[in-house]
Amino acid sequence: MLPEPIEWRGEALELLDQRKLPWEISYYRCEDAEGVAKAIESMVVRGAPAIGIAAAYGVVLAATKGKEAAFGAIERLSRTRPTAVNLFWAMERMKEVVMSSSDGELPSKSEALAVSIHREDVATNRAIGKHGEALLPAEASVLTHCNAGALATGGYGTALGVVRAAKEAGKSVKVFVDETRPLLQGARLTAWELKEDGFDVTVVCDGAAAFVMKKKAIDAVIVGADRIAANGDVANKIGTLSLAIASSRFGTPFYVAAPRSSIDVHVPSGEAIPIEERDPEEVRSFGGKAVVPRNVSAWNPAFDVTPSELVSAIITEVGVLRPPYGESIERAMKAT
Ligand code: MRU
Repeated sequence: MLPEPIEWRGEALELLDQRKLPWEISYYRCEDAEGVAKAIESMVVRGAPAIGIAAAYGVVLAATKGKEAAFGAIERLSRTRPTAVNLFWAMERMKEVVMSSSDGELPSKSEALAVSIHREDVATNRAIGKHGEALLPAEASVLTHCNAGALATGGYGTALGVVRAAKEAGKSVKVFVDETRPLLQGARLTAWELKEDGFDVTVVCDGAAAFVMKKKAIDAVIVGADRIAANGDVANKIGTLSLAIASSRFGTPFYVAAPRSSIDVHVPSGEAIPIEERDPEEVRSFGGKAVVPRNVSAWNPAFDVTPSELVSAIITEVGVLRPPYGESIERAMKAT
């Protein structure tokens, strides 16, 4: 069984340290909001929904010191990673509770909200899974990228929630996973969590994805999202755009599985989504060893943007959205 990725202890937040997986299962303890911010920045916890949940608990840790400290925590946590909109969605919800509570009620009210954001996420992912699995045949081969699984969320996962739900529905699912350079979320995290759950899983180099599609009869590519614009453009882990282009070339359905908290209706198109650029050292080395000549620079965008015309469907907790996304997203955001 998979260990819980996020454990709330009341006086502290314990995060399964994803930098060490799959070789070591250990928890990183955060006793204040600064600890949570550092955990997000250093990728102890990662994945759009999980970042939002962890940050919500970070605000709870600050809330015992009063409203000013809670506002300070929201500001600090909002500066950790710029692309995943779930972080800002969670911070907006926490801000509302901080504004509407007295210092005395703040600890319990903020804790109740963070716990419900956490629990809601798991229920949301199960709903995404149910809607998504209906798109897969009884014997399915799926290609995924990065980790949009239990580890990236409150549990169950979005893209991996779809493959879990397919298995629960009695389907047989074979999963191909891109290794996802430079931090290997696919090779380390997705492969591990799927294997733990008894899936048939095969890791391929990122550069092999198009050939896998050509040779292995892939029924669907399913990925997560860090931010979806109002027009359906999707920001997700770097390499997603290449997969979408290859999918379109081979006629393979390209699905994005994501909660509505990943949709940013304030951003009209992908052009306006802020893309995190991480330390080039992550590219310049592999397993702690330099792989790029010392005098050669590297560029390390953590995400790319897939234009909506390459997205076959967006699988949300309220149903499967199809083009034109401007309209289907607007309807989904209003659905109860
Ligand atoms: O840099 P990461 O590991 O946080 O990037 C994660 C992804 O790109 C995921 O696909 C996305 O956050 C969706 S997680 C359900």
